[in-house]
Amino acid sequence: MSEQKKEIVLSGIRATGNLHLGNYFGALRKFVQVQDDYDCNFFIADLHALTTNPDPTQLHQNVKSILAEYLAAGLDPEKSTIFVQSDVPEIAEMYLLLNMHVGIGELMRTASFKDKARKALGIGTPADDSDEAFEKEIIGASTNKRVNAGLLTYPTLMAVDILIQKATKVPVGKDQLQHLELTRRFARRFNSFYGVDLFPEPTDFDFGGAPVKVPGLDGSGKMGKSEGNCIYLIDEPKALRKKVMRAVTDEGPQAPNSPVSEPIANLFTLLELTSTPEVVKQYRDAYADCSIRYGDLKKQLAEDILAITTPIRERINDILADETYLASVVKRGAERARERAAATLSEMRHIMGIRKF
Ligand code: ADP
Ligand code: TRP
Repeated sequence: MSEQKKEIVLSGIRATGNLHLGNYFGALRKFVQVQDDYDCNFFIADLHALTTNPDPTQLHQNVKSILAEYLAAGLDPEKSTIFVQSDVPEIAEMYLLLNMHVGIGELMRTASFKDKARKALGIGTPADDSDEAFEKEIIGASTNKRVNAGLLTYPTLMAVDILIQKATKVPVGKDQLQHLELTRRFARRFNSFYGVDLFPEPTDFDFGGAPVKVPGLDGSGKMGKSEGNCIYLIDEPKALRKKVMRAVTDEGPQAPNSPVSEPIANLFTLLELTSTPEVVKQYRDAYADCSIRYGDLKKQLAEDILAITTPIRERINDILADETYLASVVKRGAERARERAAATLSEMRHIMGIRKF
């Protein structure tokens, strides 16, 4: 199949810290799996990181570590375009243009905006969660605890990442589906306003089977950076074992074939992701006949996780040490990403009536 025929896949991860097992199983591993069959574009969303983590001493380090983690986990610059968002200035210009067709109301109603805005203001979800009440919270906020406009227009920027490459398949987690829906809406709106067929409508891309939600080690919920319950790809064996051994459990099955509580179900989910079916069965059987020892389960889990993360961690460290290689990967990625971005932007400017003398 020629390069042109392949469908365009695009996804990114925000540069807000090291990647954890949730990012690996929920995103990165799937990126690696599709590299041969699609026109793949994977980037590091550093501009998006600025909406919540504007720390100039950390940003570049975060970009570098995600880049090294992408490469160590198997993203191949020979097969995929790997780039840094801010290396493609066309994105920033298109963000300005697309914003002219985006409503502040629809942005304010986005679930992730409500969530992050309340975090920025230091308030929880109030009893009155209506749009009107939320609007008052935002408008009434004092200027020292403000909700920045970049957070509001986060979905515009994400839509631009996708539309500027004319990507049609976007692998994302469940929490990003609303942003993807907005992207489709913006694409349709632009096309119909100007009577053109510039942007294809992207869809979610769930390739590697059922979507996974990797749980944390704290008994409930998902593994996430802001949850503080992560196992990182970069964790050293000693620290990793310690984290796993401290995972929340319960008092153990009290009778044969007891139902499994959430903390234990979470450990089994992690075991299923990292172990062989035989090992999983052995522990499930032990749970069913009450002979299970959680200490053994955790030891097994830690070793099985390490079997996956150790080679990746070692490569991360090697790759991070090779600045020349890192620079050459993103330089080449930016050149490729900019080529298509510049073409789309030029069409868009023309359509909107921005012409050169
Ligand atoms: P975090 O929640 O740690 O801040 P991000 O929101 O930056 O992680 O997620 C980046 C990618 O990793 C997204 O595609 C997201 O769906 C995926 N992801 C993050 N946490 C998990 C998880 N616990 N299980 C499955 N996928 C996850
Ligand atoms: N918003 C995504 C997240 O938080 C990251 C992202 C930015 C993205 N732009 C994108 C994902 C474009 C897919 C496509 O996970």
